[in-house]
Amino acid sequence: MIATYSFPARIHFGAGALASLTAFAATYRRPLIVTDKGLVATGLAEQVRAALGPAAVMFDGVDPNPTEANIHAGVAAFREYGCDLIVGVGGGSPLDAAKAIRLAVTHTLPLVAYDDNTGGDKLITADMPDMVAIPTPSGTGSEVSRSAVVTLDVNDRKTVLFSPFLMPTLAICDPALTLGLPPRLTAATGMDALSHNLEAYLSPAYHPMADAIALEGIRLVGKFLERAVRDGSDLEARSQMMMASLMGATAFQKGLGVTHSLAHPLSSVAGVHHGTANAILMPHVLTFNAVTVPERCQAIAEALGGGGTASEAVARLNRAISLPTRLSEVGVTRAMFPQLVEKAMLDGCRHTNPRMATADDLLHLYEQAF
Ligand SMILES: [Fe+2]
Repeated sequence: MIATYSFPARIHFGAGALASLTAFAATYRRPLIVTDKGLVATGLAEQVRAALGPAAVMFDGVDPNPTEANIHAGVAAFREYGCDLIVGVGGGSPLDAAKAIRLAVTHTLPLVAYDDNTGGDKLITADMPDMVAIPTPSGTGSEVSRSAVVTLDVNDRKTVLFSPFLMPTLAICDPALTLGLPPRLTAATGMDALSHNLEAYLSPAYHPMADAIALEGIRLVGKFLERAVRDGSDLEARSQMMMASLMGATAFQKGLGVTHSLAHPLSSVAGVHHGTANAILMPHVLTFNAVTVPERCQAIAEALGGGGTASEAVARLNRAISLPTRLSEVGVTRAMFPQLVEKAMLDGCRHTNPRMATADDLLHLYEQAF
């Protein structure tokens, strides 16, 4: 068996790393900052603009779930101002939008042509402007991932654009930027980071290097997430959570699992925050998976600490950081189940789950989490 591995390229990591943007961007003529209005309101987008200097142009038109219209507007701004560098700032949405804008600047077919589900990745070439990714919450790991998710006009579906060429040229991971993140969002994005490490570790793909990274990522979440939630100004906890997020996204080149297949429709159908959806589902999916991979689940329980099964350890962590533990608490109704199951069955993440899950299994998991 021949396996293909790729690891993230260049990362500047640590409190104060944002300052390195100035020197990096000095060789470019005009950077386009891609972000959303929320980031502008917090002042973080302005901090990035200050590091880039007066030549930088701000595009803050990214919606919480990026749409094709957002991408076209970003491309128009890039062209109008003669930009030559893209600087994505924020959570998964602005970073994904920045990647898609980067693609669309030089790849002029309709975006649906690049849909990973239909082999569109083969049309994606290295010919794109350079990109810097600056994550502000810790969780998605989009700064070191090779994919972008955009809702397209033609199918009104979250569509994955994937290519090694989409990995940002440079990721600047500055935990000081996460100090102002409120406790609820810290908790939810932290559980997303946990879910990436945990599902990657349980994926059956052969990748011992990613396994080692994932286990350490799980250990860091077990040790530092509660601290980061309780005291947002704890820079060590913030740093370790940012690292755990990076590690999760590095490890999930092995694939994810059923938790993500169940979580994606919860966001698109019921508007549940992605990290919160993962947090609610994980204990149930772990019980389901433990039948097939008991030793790996035990290793997860040990990495999280505190004794008991992996399912119990994750449930305990959910309670400690005060996240909801039932789908019925976050706006999901039983009437949504058929639609949720249908969409979850179409989601590719479940193909790397260690235990095969049928539509009945997925329904059962939603019911357990309800
Ligand atoms: Fe995720």
